[in-house]
Amino acid sequence: MLEERRRHISESIRQVPDFPKKGILFHDVTTLLLDPKAFQYSIDDLAERYKGKGIDAIAGFEARGFIWGAPLALALHCGFVPLRKPGKLPGETIRASYSLEYGEDVIEMHVGAVQAGQRVLLVDDLIATGGTMGAGIKLMQKVGAEVVECAVVIEMPDLGGRKKLGDVPLYAQVQKD
Ligand code: PRP
Repeated sequence: MLEERRRHISESIRQVPDFPKKGILFHDVTTLLLDPKAFQYSIDDLAERYKGKGIDAIAGFEARGFIWGAPLALALHCGFVPLRKPGKLPGETIRASYSLEYGEDVIEMHVGAVQAGQRVLLVDDLIATGGTMGAGIKLMQKVGAEVVECAVVIEMPDLGGRKKLGDVPLYAQVQKD
């Protein structure tokens, strides 16, 4: 991506101190979404990167992964698969769990949404500890799909999320502390 576009995307993301709790600096993409140029740059960059790469489906994480995943799926002419928090999907589901600081969390997908052998791109707004993205990879492995890459707008490299992805590459448009 052109450096100027990367800078525009980066600068459109608001930083909110002490959210959701004291000591956490929250990277708020709602301000990026209010800036149509920044949002377009972000989607176009991903569409250019994955066009012609034989992606069968985009899987996006609830909630903000949906915002990037859906327009990207349209641009790539492939299906969009929502990865949801437990109990939200009406059909039969398959799940993967991941550890939090205290306890664990779960993501679910409809059985049959992704077929064995399909090439899937995982999309989210942000990777922090990598727990969410790692669970997405586990889920795709369970159904025999291939995760081509994980794509995010923001990576927080200090939190080491990349290490949770095994051999699956990560593409991040911007890095933040
Ligand atoms: C945020 C973000 C990612 C996840 C990244 O979602 O949108 O999905 O956390 O964190 P990790 O790399 O440490 O797993 P959040 O859990 O806040 O859910 P929401 O989008 O539904 O608010």
